[in-house]
Amino acid sequence: MFTLLVVVAGLVAGYGLLKWYIKLPRCKSAATLHGKTVIVTGSNTGIGKTTAMDLARRGARVIMACRDRHRAEAAICDIKKETGNNEVVFMELDLASLQSVRCFAENFLKSEPRLDILINNAGLVNGGKTKDGMGMIFGVNHLGHFLLTVLLLDRLKECGPSRVVTVSSKGHVHGKIDFNCLSTHKDLAVGETDWALFQKYCHSKLCNVLFTHELAKRLDDTNVTCYSLHPGGIKTEIGRHAGFWARTMLAPIIALCFVDAESGAQTTLHCALQEGIESLSGRYFSCCAVEELDAKAKDDAVAKKLWEVSETLCGMS
Ligand SMILES: NC(=O)c1ccc[n+]([C@@H]2O[C@H](COP(=O)([O-])OP(=O)(O)OC[C@H]3O[C@@H](n4cnc5c(N)ncnc54)[C@H](OP(=O)(O)O)[C@@H]3O)[C@@H](O)[C@H]2O)c1
Ligand SMILES: *[C@@H]1O[C@H](CO)[C@@H](O)[C@H](O)[C@H]1NC(C)=O
Repeated sequence: MFTLLVVVAGLVAGYGLLKWYIKLPRCKSAATLHGKTVIVTGSNTGIGKTTAMDLARRGARVIMACRDRHRAEAAICDIKKETGNNEVVFMELDLASLQSVRCFAENFLKSEPRLDILINNAGLVNGGKTKDGMGMIFGVNHLGHFLLTVLLLDRLKECGPSRVVTVSSKGHVHGKIDFNCLSTHKDLAVGETDWALFQKYCHSKLCNVLFTHELAKRLDDTNVTCYSLHPGGIKTEIGRHAGFWARTMLAPIIALCFVDAESGAQTTLHCALQEGIESLSGRYFSCCAVEELDAKAKDDAVAKKLWEVSETLCGMS
């Protein structure tokens, strides 16, 4: 009887703790963004859409950098209706094509005088290759965003204080960067099973953190700061291509522990808007607070090498 009571009490306490843990803190900044321009990649759904919604509500001009015009227009319609802000515009960006990234940057720089906040949010866990023959996950989650950021840096510098926010994941702790695999396969690992794709996802999210680490150093004498983050476990469309078994096994965890996309935008918003975090440039955030990284996620040499390899893969050096 006593054992049973202990077990029940343990379960109740555990559930309470879980609920407390998953009640994510909110971005406290009251900043308004009239006259400012932001780009959010992958903003037609999920965390990107709720991020764009919040920034539009604050008065920003929001560039919806998405690959599918149809899906983007539907989201823009929702955002305009909800916020009353009509300065929400679609610009085509397919991060799975370096050519598309270059086109986007060219269009943007020609037509938009300002860039105050760049949010590298788009991400996926799909197999396959990009138009350039890179692994899809590496190509979209890291390389496309790398090129995009580099091409927009001068505009960000002109508009400082400005910020680059890159949505990573807690999953980066399981990642590693295999430069040999990258040079032979243009990918971070081989294989296309759900498990292999999940591993590649973690590797790509480690790239996001290392990219931000190196970017901060390169921006040291400018008014541009940058941050990476974990948004929380969020109910979105990210698992839409997962196989049957992965879906079935994850379903109860997602139902119990994952929260809505509006909560999922809070740490992104914190990094984009919170006053006074400039001295934390290059760092990683979770639950609207800076979080310490493992040594491998702030390894100067690996971060520098990843930057150089990325430049080569983008045909920049
Ligand atoms: N959900 C979570 O629990 C969680 C946890 C940790 C980190 N994250 C990160 O949060 C970010 C947002 O993910 P989410 O959960 O909101 O997923 P989502 O609902 O699947 O949204 C992903 C967005 O990225 C876009 N995208 C995918 N491939 C693209 C490409 N080649 N070019 C341009 N856009 C592309 C998608 O566009 P389409 O609609 O056209 O496919 C979509 O708008 C990702 O970086 C993800 O890694 C999520
Ligand atoms: C950064 O911003 C400050 C204040 O706006 C300005 O005085 C300074 O010149 C800027 N620095 C650079 C490198 O642009």
